[in-house]
Amino acid sequence: MVDELRLDSLDGVGPVTTKKLTDAGVHNIMDLVVRGPVDIAEVTGMDKETAEKIVTKARHTLMEQGLIGKDFVTATEIYKRRQDIGKITTATQCLDQLLDGGVETQALTEVYGEFGSGKTQFCHTLCVTVQKPKEEGGLGGGVLYVDSENTFRPERIVSIAKAKGLDPEKVLDNIIVARAYNSAHQTLILEEAGSIIEKHGIKLLIADSAVGLFRSEYLGRGTLSERQQRLNRFMHLLVRTAETYNCAAIATNQVMASPDVFFGDPTKPIGGNVVAHTSTYRIYFKKSGKKRIARMVDSPHHPEEEVIFTVTEGGVADPEDETKKKKKAEEE
Ligand code: GTP
Ligand code: MG
Repeated sequence: MVDELRLDSLDGVGPVTTKKLTDAGVHNIMDLVVRGPVDIAEVTGMDKETAEKIVTKARHTLMEQGLIGKDFVTATEIYKRRQDIGKITTATQCLDQLLDGGVETQALTEVYGEFGSGKTQFCHTLCVTVQKPKEEGGLGGGVLYVDSENTFRPERIVSIAKAKGLDPEKVLDNIIVARAYNSAHQTLILEEAGSIIEKHGIKLLIADSAVGLFRSEYLGRGTLSERQQRLNRFMHLLVRTAETYNCAAIATNQVMASPDVFFGDPTKPIGGNVVAHTSTYRIYFKKSGKKRIARMVDSPHHPEEEVIFTVTEGGVADPEDETKKKKKAEEE
């Protein structure tokens, strides 16, 4: 680890605190910032004021090193920082157009939609495309895939990698899969992700599904506020990790029928406001026969538009790819 990021390089953090922090998965100054003062107080047993002081110092250290943005900045600086944002191509024209180039780093992109709408296939495709070099629309980085539904399939990665002309074995090696067994475990995985992200040069974090476990564990009205609170914590952790480590984060979310909507699409994402407010971008996937529709929903700077895509052996694809393939098959 770089010396400047060592926990004990901060005033007020001695060997005892360092050990407590390390045991709780906080390995460096970046992790301190990601976890925030409330968590740090909880895991170390120090009072909240001390924890706040330490986290503030940690934030200043990262600012001085230019690793995170300063609290007060000019618009020019924000503009410059935004030039550093990486984008991961979806390897389709339609979805890249919808996303204005691809899935962004330093941001959380939420993909919600009904079962079978292609959310998991979208994630699998990005696991491959993020590994492409920058010139080809990737970030030359690895993936941390938090799999809470047991739907990660290496076989799919192999076929997508082949379709994109990448070496499947190398691609598989750069994807770290963490199977989450319950919502607390899912949160823990993310809390401890810092060192893995650095070690493996991770550029893409995936939580598929982000809300599923929270939904199944907290049933009934009485548990709703606790569920939202814990889900809120998870989503914030995801955003902060993406911002601090300059990674892209994708969270998938299902929809439920909402009886109070009479016009338009009677579905809304589970997790409601919590997820909506933490996501930078939200995309809605919908099945339409064999095709899929993707819509950009309330983005800060994308126009609200819809595109049509398909799911193929080679991952998400442009619809005309399919037509071309059929034509080719007919010609042969
Ligand atoms: P839930 O997790 O159940 O909410 O659904 P999801 O949105 O994650 O759906 P997913 O991404 O798993 O999409 C499943 C659909 O993708 C299947 O019904 C197939 O239509 C399609 N699909 C998956 N693999 C392949 C493949 O290898 N070839 C083709 N042509 N289609 C595939
Ligand atoms: Mg899925």
